[in-house]
Amino acid sequence: SAAAGLNLNDIQGDILIGMRKPVELFFFFGISNTAAFKSKLKREILPLVTSTLQILNNDTAAASTLVNIAFSHTGLVALNVTGDANNLNDPPFAAGQVNDVKNLSDPGTTNWVPQFVGTNIHGVILFGSDTEDSINSTLASLQSKLGNSISEIYSLRGAMRPPPNMGHEHFGFLDGISNPTINGFQGPKPGQAVVPAGEIIVGQHGDNVTRPAWAKDGSFLVFRQLKQLVPEFNKFLADNPIVEPGLTQEQGSDLLGARMVGRWKSGAPVVLSPMFDDPALGADDNRNNNFTFAEPGQSQSNLTDQSKCPLSAHIRKTRPRADLGLPENSTSFHHIVRAGIPYGPEVTPDETSSNTTEIERGLAFVAYQSNIMNGFQFLQEFWANNQKFIQRGVGFDPIIGAAGGAERPVNGLDPTGPVRNFTLSTDFVVSRGGEYFFAPSLSAIAHTLSV
Ligand code: HEM
Repeated sequence: SAAAGLNLNDIQGDILIGMRKPVELFFFFGISNTAAFKSKLKREILPLVTSTLQILNNDTAAASTLVNIAFSHTGLVALNVTGDANNLNDPPFAAGQVNDVKNLSDPGTTNWVPQFVGTNIHGVILFGSDTEDSINSTLASLQSKLGNSISEIYSLRGAMRPPPNMGHEHFGFLDGISNPTINGFQGPKPGQAVVPAGEIIVGQHGDNVTRPAWAKDGSFLVFRQLKQLVPEFNKFLADNPIVEPGLTQEQGSDLLGARMVGRWKSGAPVVLSPMFDDPALGADDNRNNNFTFAEPGQSQSNLTDQSKCPLSAHIRKTRPRADLGLPENSTSFHHIVRAGIPYGPEVTPDETSSNTTEIERGLAFVAYQSNIMNGFQFLQEFWANNQKFIQRGVGFDPIIGAAGGAERPVNGLDPTGPVRNFTLSTDFVVSRGGEYFFAPSLSAIAHTLSV
């Protein structure tokens, strides 16, 4: 179906449906010459920016590389967007991610990529393509046109993993299954959350924050470079198999991993397939998201059944579905659209045998929302990192929970003994930092931002 009145040719393509390309480059830059950059933004960058409609219509054949762009708060200042026009009314965005370290429970910035420490990054250009080569040539040609109006501060290359793991993140689990859709836009597929447009897109129905007119049809882009300690994660699973009659030790380890995520590696939800993976279920997008957790009549503080899925599981922490006591698909205001991609190489035999990460790999995490406090920040701070969510005794999200470097209790992982306490002394996901950006509409790029 078409569009719930959305201006799909004005909304950047990565926001609602993702670029969905096997190779991506995140190019973080500073603006060195405001006047020169603003004119090049209009003449050189804007014609390359891919809209949602272009991706939907597959109208991107001419451009072998898809391009999107977003600006940080200091980037808007560097563009001379000042006064009321500068006030997007989003405190985390205005402060920059480096000033959000405490709320996110990153253990300081010692693990951060140095270029993310500070607020020098003015923007990010996202390139998505089928090949590394076509990204490189698009980048080279753009850089020669932009000259020294900008400078590269940092870049990160993402890529889908090679077969048979395409679409899977580095721990091995199928990713990109469950994203919300906008009411009246696409779908919904069974079990998919349906949200008002304004929960993702600024200035649309459901976004009640006062903001300058130019911000309409943009979205806040949260970028995080999340390093994953894959051999260490696998060692933890190998050392702590769930012991149940009928399970081999390896199956017990796989079950523990599946219960940490809430899905098996194939994507099959543990709530529908509690003991063994079911690849046919994982691959079927009419079934793999069609579930909820709570039984009818339970209240948020009275959930006891973790036999199928722990209350702490990553997907239960980050989208509790009916656990919240709300009708399924009512708005929780805490939805994000995820559009990340893995980065870094496959685990080497050396790393496997030493159980130790030697080469960095992880997730180039991207999340879109109309309000960072209600979206990414809320999920991280009040759900994943909150030991008392969804009720006392649940503990941290075992995948992304962080306790500022301290040990993390996680409960409910063992179906045979839900009170068996796991204490995770390693963060298997280590934040390397990131930045908060705003991905404006194409017309905002053509007008407010470039003139
Ligand atoms: C879902 C892995 C970071 C929020 C998932 C899924 C996997 C996964 C395997 C299930 C597949 C799917 O539904 O698409 C990871 C890994 C991460 C990471 C390995 C870090 C390296 C984050 C962060 C957040 C987040 C930082 C937000 C703060 C979500 C949400 C879902 C999800 C909202 C969908 C839940 C649902 O709708 O059922 N993640 N994730 N993830 N993740 Fe993460």
